[in-house]
Amino acid sequence: MVVYMKYILVLSFLSVLSLATARIAEMAKAPIDFEEEWSKISNGTLEIKWYYFPTTQSLKIDIDKIQQVKIIRQDKGYAKNWGSGDFGTWWACDMKRNFRTHADQFYNVKVDIGETFKKGFTVNELDKFLVAIRKWLKVQNIAFE
Ligand SMILES: *[C@@H]1O[C@H](CO)[C@@H](O)[C@H](O)[C@H]1NC(C)=O
Repeated sequence: MVVYMKYILVLSFLSVLSLATARIAEMAKAPIDFEEEWSKISNGTLEIKWYYFPTTQSLKIDIDKIQQVKIIRQDKGYAKNWGSGDFGTWWACDMKRNFRTHADQFYNVKVDIGETFKKGFTVNELDKFLVAIRKWLKVQNIAFE
């Protein structure tokens, strides 16, 4: 009888353990829709890397809170390398933002989530970025400047 109960205990411990393991595996495997040096899109979240000064910590945004996405080619407009110049947008760090030889292949993207500062970052593979963010945007409001 005692042996039997030990058996039951071990079994239930194992099933709890495997449930927990399955849960962790599930949590870990949200597919990545887009990732570059400056941003990442996964499971409805936009991670803007190198965001905060001076820690370089990321900012994570729920994409369904984004009201507008604005895009301009890096050779067509100036934006700060890091921080805010105009008190309208906070730019994540990209020390090459204004010094690229192929600036026509890079973009300054800013997202508006209804806060004082829009959040800006660099994108290189714009086509892939657009496919990824469109998948999660609630308001399909993408403007090219
Ligand atoms: C994906 O996002 C949903 C909603 O925010 C959240 O509940 C879920 O835990 C996330 N999944 C992963 C794997 O991060």
